[in-house]
Amino acid sequence: MKAIELKKDVYWVGGVDWRLRNFHGYLTQRGSTYNAYLIIDEKVTLIDTVKHYLYDEMLERISEIIDPSKIDYFISNHVEMDHSGSLPKIWSLVPGAPVYTSAPKGKDGLTAHYGEMNLVPVKTGDTLNIGSRTLHFVQTPMVHWPDNMLTYSAEDKILFSNDAFGQHIASCERFDTEYPYDTMMFEAKKYYANIVMPYGNQVKKALDHASKLDIEMIAPSHGLIWKEHIGEIISAYTKWSANDTDDRAVVIYDTMWGSTQKIAETLQHTFESLGVPSSLYCLQDTHISDIMTEMQESRYICVGSPTLNSNMLPTVGAFLTYLKGFSPKKRLGLAFGSYGWGGQSIPQIHEILEKAGFEMMMDDLKCKYIPSNDTLTQFAGLVSETVNRVRQG
Ligand code: FEO
Repeated sequence: MKAIELKKDVYWVGGVDWRLRNFHGYLTQRGSTYNAYLIIDEKVTLIDTVKHYLYDEMLERISEIIDPSKIDYFISNHVEMDHSGSLPKIWSLVPGAPVYTSAPKGKDGLTAHYGEMNLVPVKTGDTLNIGSRTLHFVQTPMVHWPDNMLTYSAEDKILFSNDAFGQHIASCERFDTEYPYDTMMFEAKKYYANIVMPYGNQVKKALDHASKLDIEMIAPSHGLIWKEHIGEIISAYTKWSANDTDDRAVVIYDTMWGSTQKIAETLQHTFESLGVPSSLYCLQDTHISDIMTEMQESRYICVGSPTLNSNMLPTVGAFLTYLKGFSPKKRLGLAFGSYGWGGQSIPQIHEILEKAGFEMMMDDLKCKYIPSNDTLTQFAGLVSETVNRVRQG
């Protein structure tokens, strides 16, 4: 368990969570890391910590560099326990040491979680001199909690960005130069779609601050450190936070006797025949967080369910509950499904999509029992007309 030197006297001393597969409902197939950073200067400073069960791993890495009781300052960029979970334990080795955190939410949050500590609230523009370096604080509320902030070391040109620019990846590698780029960007997109998406406006402000900084390294609190691909990840965050989508479609459904599946397949084929790249996901097979990732850059979102006891199927209900929390903007929605008698599921989906902020692209597509070939052809025609209309602006 080695500490990794990022730049002279700046070390990664975090923890690798190889087994993590669920991060508040988000399927983390590749595990994750909690990145803590140690700066050796006149005042030894630790930025963030790790989940409580990886404390020993972090301590071992710190101990390789310095006696942990020699830490002078702690910086908590974020209260959430994946980053603050080991703070009380390591702080108890240096009782009384100041913990710099955002004002007032970081102070309030840390106090609520851990009781009284020597918390020093800081605001955007505040700085902390630690010897040959001055650390700059930038508050970034709601990226991803109200307390979030960034810490920037101008001398090292490192932005310690906490949740922003993170990816849930457990790895031996620490830098983007060492890891497959496409996988890293995919996981960054999945992270944005499942963690950061609701806070696009706040991300824009954070990007605005970042654009004024001279950055050679972005050191997030999850995953790998951006060194070679800083331009790419900033540009991806710019696109995602603007809710810019591509001419792509995602068709999401569950089915009881195969009829809603027939409609779903027809929709996917129709988009494909129109030259709109499209994906088809049955909620029995695909995790909702993977569907969110696919939706991140897609314009057309179609959701279908048959009617079961006057409701949609529970898988579709769970997906829409998750989706509603993210309220994706600038997307076009479509509700569809087959039914036997009541048919309530389809207007229910329509209503939820509308409330989540979707503009409905056309009337709902519904049919009683099994859709005939004529019905499917009619549905395909209606979708084609709508897509052509959207394309003409
Ligand atoms: Fe990685 Fe919002 O915590």
